[in-house]
Amino acid sequence: MRTPLVAGNWKMNLQYAEAMTLVDAIVDGLPENNGAEIVLAPPTIYLHDVLDRIQRKPGIALSAQDVSAYERGAFTGEVAASMLASVGVEYVIVGHSERREYHHEDHPLLAAKVDRVLEQSLLPIFCCGEKLDDRTAGRHFELIEQQLHESLFHLSPEKVTECVIAYEPVWAIGTGVVATTGQAQEMHRFIRQLLFARYGEPIASEMRILYGGSVNATNASDLFTCPDVDGGLVGGASLKAVDFLSIIAAAGTNR
Ligand code: PGA
Repeated sequence: MRTPLVAGNWKMNLQYAEAMTLVDAIVDGLPENNGAEIVLAPPTIYLHDVLDRIQRKPGIALSAQDVSAYERGAFTGEVAASMLASVGVEYVIVGHSERREYHHEDHPLLAAKVDRVLEQSLLPIFCCGEKLDDRTAGRHFELIEQQLHESLFHLSPEKVTECVIAYEPVWAIGTGVVATTGQAQEMHRFIRQLLFARYGEPIASEMRILYGGSVNATNASDLFTCPDVDGGLVGGASLKAVDFLSIIAAAGTNR
């Protein structure tokens, strides 16, 4: 039985006071035993203070939005996985399409980031997803397979089970155009089949695959009824406590 996971990716939003108000509202509004695991990914500079506040409630973990591919040294502006671990971070988002697109992150770099994260016993949330052109051209399955093959499938079976995969079609991110349940389930099933082919049945059925891209309080429940959708990676709707809490409730209900 996979425990659903709902992660809020705040991206580069919110000033300090707003971020603290949001985390307090989430912590206060979250029922005990809500049935889902919750992860918050605030901007790096707020990680420590968000951790202070989430410790009031069990079941909420902290994630970074990115990490350096290097261990340490002269990399101005970068944050090492060991630093994230040292302030209590548990998860790290790797390979978000915005990093791939605006920061030109390629498959080998993302594989290195996944390795740095796992070396520190942190858990990668590895994002994959196709652009609209790729889907229109019918290349979406091939592309997802390539993204997983090049940056994740070098891992041993022991290491890959530490990872969460997030399928985020780029055309659905921040656009309000959500994938249909049919599209989401079809791709999640495909990803699980790839895991099966590479790692075998127990690992394929144990690993969580999240859907991301315009998840909101209205569509979450339908998406989470898909058998291979194990929760969501939520951007915009994670910035409003009420919406984020209803998404969490939807995940818990559809266990
Ligand atoms: P969105 O972002 O929910 O605002 O579409 C999702 C994401 O980028 O993870």
